Amino acid sequence: MTTHTVTPARPLLEVRDLHVTYRQGGQTVPAVRGVTFTLGAGDTLGIAGESGCGKSTMALSLLRLHGGAAQVTGEVLFDGENLLTTTWSKLRAVRWAGASVVFQGAMSALNPVRTVLDQIVEPMVLHDKIGPKDAERRAAELLDSVGIPSRRIRSYPHEFSGGQRQRVMIAMALACRPDLIIADEPTTALDVMVQAQILELLGDLVRESKIAVIMITHDLSLLAHTCDRLAVMYGGRIVELGPSRQVLEDPQHPYTRALSRAFPTIGDPASRRAPEGLPGDPPRPSETDSGCAFAPRCPEAEASCRTGEMLLWPAGPGRSAACLHARPQHGGTP
Ligand SMILES: Nc1ncnc2c1ncn2[C@@H]1O[C@H](COP(=O)(O)OP(=O)(O)OP(=O)(O)O)[C@@H](O)[C@H]1O
Ligand SMILES: [Mg+2]
Repeated sequence: MTTHTVTPARPLLEVRDLHVTYRQGGQTVPAVRGVTFTLGAGDTLGIAGESGCGKSTMALSLLRLHGGAAQVTGEVLFDGENLLTTTWSKLRAVRWAGASVVFQGAMSALNPVRTVLDQIVEPMVLHDKIGPKDAERRAAELLDSVGIPSRRIRSYPHEFSGGQRQRVMIAMALACRPDLIIADEPTTALDVMVQAQILELLGDLVRESKIAVIMITHDLSLLAHTCDRLAVMYGGRIVELGPSRQVLEDPQHPYTRALSRAFPTIGDPASRRAPEGLPGDPPRPSETDSGCAFAPRCPEAEASCRTGEMLLWPAGPGRSAACLHARPQHGGTP
């Protein structure tokens, strides 16, 4: 049993007007600028957007895993409890048992001098209060479920390939049967075949166990495969949100259109940094003061786009977009 039980009547996660500002030298960097979304139990949400748009900052701040130099405002209600203001002991109970994170670089997240068994078992013994024997049995099952033979349970991280280490990370994230997994580019460092396998595996595991997922990658089409809904971020904001297929096949925001056309080749780090067909650079956080942050690169921009306030307006059932042109009759209310 986990130490965390979710109330079914309310959304699992409600993020309201989340702002994250880093302080760097004498400067402030507003990396996340008013993100709002809701996630129900078992929902899967993909987050896409170019490098620097605030995806990791947003995801890490949900569990207060951002660095100390960041100032965070807004609300992150996890099963009704605001994780931004709750006590450290409640936050610790939520981490792992309520929500766990899979990072990109498994090697840096895993402890090189401890066996995989020790590392998978630790959160279970700590949070689930189960005995070492039961924990070992469950660790073996988990390794099995991610495609690693349980006889390798006493191996060290360096004895695994990159893809296997990422699988171990997924096993660890599942260890306490969380209600939410946040996966920040869990496969970017891996080759294309392994990326696809691991995303498929993660997708299958969360579907079977009805775990909610927030999945971050640059690759819209990969996300659409794995997640029911997509959020596209630009300049620290969500600029489009909706069911994955609809966002991909009929994007409402010019940025989503550009991103889906420019889609980087899976596994190619160069195209990740400079997507083909998406000229210009994303704004630096300090440049995103008024109007639509995408206006300087947008082929459809008008004068009003550069000055008006951009909100996430309704753009069809279950959909929203922060574009004046996608706003129904210019009359929707956010
Ligand atoms: N610790 C930090 N201190 C200061 N600025 C930071 C820090 N971490 C991130 N930033 C800045 O915040 C902005 C958002 O960064 P973030 O890493 O969240 O983007 P991202 O969308 O995850 O990018 P990528 O796709 O490259 O992972 C960037 O301008 C980045 O330079
Ligand atoms: Mg990132």
